[in-house]
Amino acid sequence: MIIGVPKEIKNHEYRVGLTPAAVKEFVSHGHHVIVETLAGDAIGFSDEMYIAAGASIESTPEIIFEKAEMIVKVKEPQPNECKMLRKGQTLYTYLHLAPDPVQTQLLVESGATCIAYETVTDSRGGLPLLAPMSEVAGRMSVQAGAHFLEKAHGGSGTLLGGVPGVAPGKVLVIGGGVVGTNAAKMALGLGADVTILDRSLPRLRELDDIFAGQVKTVYSTVDAIEHYSSNADLVVGAVLIPGAAAPKLLNGEQIKAMKPGSVLVDVAIDQGGCFATSKATTHQEPVYIVDDVVHYCVANMPGGVARTSTMALNNATLPFGLALANKGPAKAMLEDPHLLNGLNVHEGKVTYKAVVDALGDELDLTYTPATEALNG
Ligand SMILES: NC(=O)c1ccc[n+]([C@@H]2O[C@H](COP(=O)([O-])OP(=O)(O)OC[C@H]3O[C@@H](n4cnc5c(N)ncnc54)[C@H](O)[C@@H]3O)[C@@H](O)[C@H]2O)c1
Repeated sequence: MIIGVPKEIKNHEYRVGLTPAAVKEFVSHGHHVIVETLAGDAIGFSDEMYIAAGASIESTPEIIFEKAEMIVKVKEPQPNECKMLRKGQTLYTYLHLAPDPVQTQLLVESGATCIAYETVTDSRGGLPLLAPMSEVAGRMSVQAGAHFLEKAHGGSGTLLGGVPGVAPGKVLVIGGGVVGTNAAKMALGLGADVTILDRSLPRLRELDDIFAGQVKTVYSTVDAIEHYSSNADLVVGAVLIPGAAAPKLLNGEQIKAMKPGSVLVDVAIDQGGCFATSKATTHQEPVYIVDDVVHYCVANMPGGVARTSTMALNNATLPFGLALANKGPAKAMLEDPHLLNGLNVHEGKVTYKAVVDALGDELDLTYTPATEALNG
């Protein structure tokens, strides 16, 4: 199969669909990979590295979209990219179609087979192609929080690890899933005093085992959130209710009651945010201050560490990508129900129910089960 890797074109997006190491895997399975010039250059993957891995370099996205049978990307295709897709071609990338009628319509019109990373599943009920980005965001949340706790960056001037004779800073992590667990690991590594709140008792039991009692686990109630946030130096918002906007867990009064110079990192901002005063920010201007509390609400945290994120994402996307290339997309999906769950659009049919639920009326879409669309 010919696999194409265009350069990402969204503002400040430096990640790339395939690393040179991933290219080498595709090539070793007999596939031909074409990469747009400078696609990975900003994160240290030069054209020479792709050539050494066995890829050919092409000069424009038009050539990549024209020649490739499967396009591998990171971000959702922009309108001009959608217009270059065609029937018989596979698109393998993050799509997030439900809130995006323009992209959905264009992908339906393209006739292409569009597989969304974010809806591929695993046997434990997880989302394996989202998890690496949650790991990155979780670890980054504490790094960012520690930075903005410094006086010169608007914080209270607290060192999370403390020093001998001075108590460590207090970190409250709300939501003990992938983001929260990784945040807690980093905070613990810095020597902070860490508390995790979750409303799942089984998850709190797991966390208690994972951290061998080194973090406090507390059942998430309004009272617990109010009590622990008022004493915290850093609060990480890491909750998720699948398919729903993030619940607002701290209201304006509770935020006002926090210590001056404390930091809120709202990782759940991509789902609307879990603090009343949160609004999305960017890596260019990551923070703002409300009631003396520093708010860090970057909606695309993994983009800030694009090199690590690209490698982490490739580790997760590669096995599915190889299956698609080796078996052909239809056979690969029909043989693997988890990869099949990734199929969102096929030959003009929408095969992911949540997309039809969100946009069906607006775009006059009907739902076609993925198996039916592939067999039809
Ligand atoms: N900003 C970014 O760049 C970025 C990157 C990755 C993930 N995220 C977001 O981070 C959030 C967490 O993702 P995840 O992968 O860790 O999800 P996850 O499903 O692994 O974990 C979510 C946890 O939140 C818990 N929870 C739900 N409601 C709660 C409540 N009221 N109180 C306490 N805990 C509660 C759940 O029990 C679960 O353990 C999501 O909103 C996700 O979209 C953002």
